[in-house]
Amino acid sequence: MAGEVLLEARKVVKGFPGVWEHLILDHIDFDVRAGEVHALLGENGAGKTVLANILSGFYSLSSGELIVKGKNVRFKSPADAIRHGIGMVHQEFTLAPPLTVVENVALTLRRSNPLSYPLKKIEEKIRELSQRYGLKVDPHEKVENLSLGERQRVEIIKVLYWEPRILILDEPTSVLTLEESKELFQILRKMAEEGKGIVFITHKLEEIMEVADRVTVLRLGKKMGTLKVAETSRSELLKLMLGELTPVSYQRAPAKETRKPVLQVENLTVLDDDGRVAVKNVSLEVREGEILGVAGVSGNGQKELVEALTGLRKAASGKLIVNGVDLTNRSPRRFAQTGVRHIPEDRRRTGVVEEMVTAENIMLREYREKPFSVFGVINKGAVTELAQKLVTSFGVLTPDLWDTEVRILSGGNIQRLILARELWKEPKLLIAFHPTYGLDLKAISQTHRLFMNLREKGSAILLISEDLEEIFLLSDRIAVMYNGELVGVMKSDEATVERVGKMMTGMKSSA
Ligand SMILES: Nc1ncnc2c1ncn2[C@@H]1O[C@H](COP(=O)(O)OP(=O)(O)O)[C@@H](O)[C@H]1O
Ligand SMILES: [Mg+2]
Repeated sequence: MAGEVLLEARKVVKGFPGVWEHLILDHIDFDVRAGEVHALLGENGAGKTVLANILSGFYSLSSGELIVKGKNVRFKSPADAIRHGIGMVHQEFTLAPPLTVVENVALTLRRSNPLSYPLKKIEEKIRELSQRYGLKVDPHEKVENLSLGERQRVEIIKVLYWEPRILILDEPTSVLTLEESKELFQILRKMAEEGKGIVFITHKLEEIMEVADRVTVLRLGKKMGTLKVAETSRSELLKLMLGELTPVSYQRAPAKETRKPVLQVENLTVLDDDGRVAVKNVSLEVREGEILGVAGVSGNGQKELVEALTGLRKAASGKLIVNGVDLTNRSPRRFAQTGVRHIPEDRRRTGVVEEMVTAENIMLREYREKPFSVFGVINKGAVTELAQKLVTSFGVLTPDLWDTEVRILSGGNIQRLILARELWKEPKLLIAFHPTYGLDLKAISQTHRLFMNLREKGSAILLISEDLEEIFLLSDRIAVMYNGELVGVMKSDEATVERVGKMMTGMKSSA
């Protein structure tokens, strides 16, 4: 099958300043051979992107060795890695939208004089690459007119331009449709047949079964093994990826069946930014004093679901009722007035207004109301008093209430600020999206306790999280979202990690 070893990583360690207590990569061995697609599998935060960045010269390693064709190397930059035949396609695109495909590729030459770009030559090369691998793209089209799939082809061509022996792709399918993914897989196979070594990062098992020769599984910075795809199974990979998790959940009084439904969603369908169906015909209900956990690998429609449930995105069809009020396609403000609170995934962009100061951010929801505002004039005294109380009780570290723009706060403190603002009034319904992502352990357990308290007091909570431990810890019932659909809802005491995990990866659950 595979040929010579093109690149080898030995005992690679990566720690970041301030987060040394756990290594981001803990003595990882990894190699890529000519002619293979080597998948890198792991949950979010496993360390896949960091490893890829080390292999391609974007990050330095804290210790360990990189060996290219038998020789020890140390990359000083991505350009250095390219010279050694290693190129990477990042998850975030780095294209200039107003420029054409040719111009975008030209930019990678980094010439100081734009007149010296050999545009004709670049165009020929693009056509040749596009022929050779089936990467359809019009060299003269502006990038802003291209679909996501086409933009990705441009990103790939940009790297292939340098004729790398090794191509690393970081979650390339996350922006693609199923059909586009299949096309990409053909391209990857083609490159492998040609003798390149491909590193393909994903957290989707079925993609590995389809395209990879070998797979290396990472979990929380540790390598769980490297296996031949032909000799493993989805369930083996799933176990390596998730670990032997024994679910624990908080002690609680059972939610009474007689409690009133707070959130009722009926046959909700929601489109994503490109007009594709992201949420398919979802129906669910959350009652007073109940936590419904929605497990799932991100990118399966969770973002669009949350946005629809908070008024940030229109529903294409279906119905959405909160506390008996039909809120289908009403404004975010109307959702808020009905008692819906939201902990968004994207804290900086959706969760706060970065240019505003701490006190203003804490009062975003209520500044129009008495006593915080009287006849349209902000009552600074009342705002300060509450803001001070909340900052203290939620542990938001901020130098000042009125002088500190929120942009300078750390991610953890911004999250605490959002929790303070959204939770202090005991919401009727809380939509919490990855509420503890990136928090330290103490802050995580504080947040969990807050949620359990709200539950006791009768709030309905919809918890959307990729973290299975969190889902099991908090939920009364667990639903799984896969490919835009809710593929199962079960009481948490009837759920097992294996069952939920299988559903998360698109395997039909047998029981
Ligand atoms: N620049 C950084 N500084 C500190 N921590 C980081 C940095 N980049 C990544 N991390 C952490 O490293 C871990 C692995 O991240 P990453 O490689 O992005 O995971 P994934 O497997 O999802 O690609 C995460 O816990 C992440 O928070
Ligand atoms: Mg990543």
